[in-house]
Amino acid sequence: MTEPLRLGEVSDRNLALELVRVTEAAAIAAARWIGRGKKNDADGAAVEAMRKAFDTVAIDGTVVIGEGEMDEAPMLYIGEKVGCGGPAMDIAVDPLEGTTITAKGGPNAIATVALAERGNFLHAPDIYMEKIAVGGGLPEGVVALDAPVKENLKNLALAKGIDVSELMVCMLDRERHAEEIAKIREAGARILLIGDGDVAGVIAVAQPDAGVDMYLGSGGAPEGVLAAAALRCTGGQMQGRLMFEDAAQIERARSMGITDPGHIYTLEQMARGDVMFAATGVTSGAMLKGVRRAGHGAVTHSIVMRSKSGTVRYVEGHHNFAKKNLNL
Ligand code: FBP
Repeated sequence: MTEPLRLGEVSDRNLALELVRVTEAAAIAAARWIGRGKKNDADGAAVEAMRKAFDTVAIDGTVVIGEGEMDEAPMLYIGEKVGCGGPAMDIAVDPLEGTTITAKGGPNAIATVALAERGNFLHAPDIYMEKIAVGGGLPEGVVALDAPVKENLKNLALAKGIDVSELMVCMLDRERHAEEIAKIREAGARILLIGDGDVAGVIAVAQPDAGVDMYLGSGGAPEGVLAAAALRCTGGQMQGRLMFEDAAQIERARSMGITDPGHIYTLEQMARGDVMFAATGVTSGAMLKGVRRAGHGAVTHSIVMRSKSGTVRYVEGHHNFAKKNLNL
């Protein structure tokens, strides 16, 4: 006979679905700004809508990855309390991951949120992080941040039973990656260069249809924690190392509890315990469709997952704006 569900388990499952409302709200708000060349307005609209949507989520939430420090961000700042009461949870948010993409009408912008029990997310400062990630079902340690690129590719190809030339590596298209790009091509592998949005880029390694075998390169550290939360749910491996530019950044990180600036974080060290992750597409990409106008409303496409069960759900939301006094 199957065990009856505990109350905590029931509310966990409901909470994961509640998160979709939060990312849907942010995505719909951001979608109004697609292609208008105004990334700050797009971001502001997503932040405001997400902040409001959190008011009805039954948690005692604290933002640990957010829009910045209290004095630089009016909403969803680090330390801000959100939710209407419930279990103590830490929250990582990126109301609009891909502000430039949205402004330019490009692919892969998402609204995203992750949740963990208090104290379980790395409090990553808003600096760069070096990242490497691969999908699930591979031998532990098959790739490593400190290993030469060529060796990582060789080991990954071997583990997957394919040739290095068949591997696809996803990277942000940045000048700072020129050396690694050259080495990857020299080794014979292919590269999918993305303009922005490395949360979706990292998640792609765990999505069979995305055709991405490895993610590599530096991007935002907060985005690294969000991606780690997602990979905890889908399965996969990831390592990250914070990239400090000066002593002031190291000092600030120290005040956030980071004592070893050179530490290489594993997936579990970035997102521990039971985590939940949700994202809604703002513009269409490999993972999610963007917000689409439909009749008197809009259709949204979201992903929601929990590490405890490993279930990945895609949710299509049909929103009737006439009932909500909204427009797109
Ligand atoms: P925004 O949504 O804040 O514009 O971030 C987009 C992004 O591409 C992230 O996905 C990535 O982590 C970061 O910017 C990379 O930073 P940079 O553009 O400085 O290379």
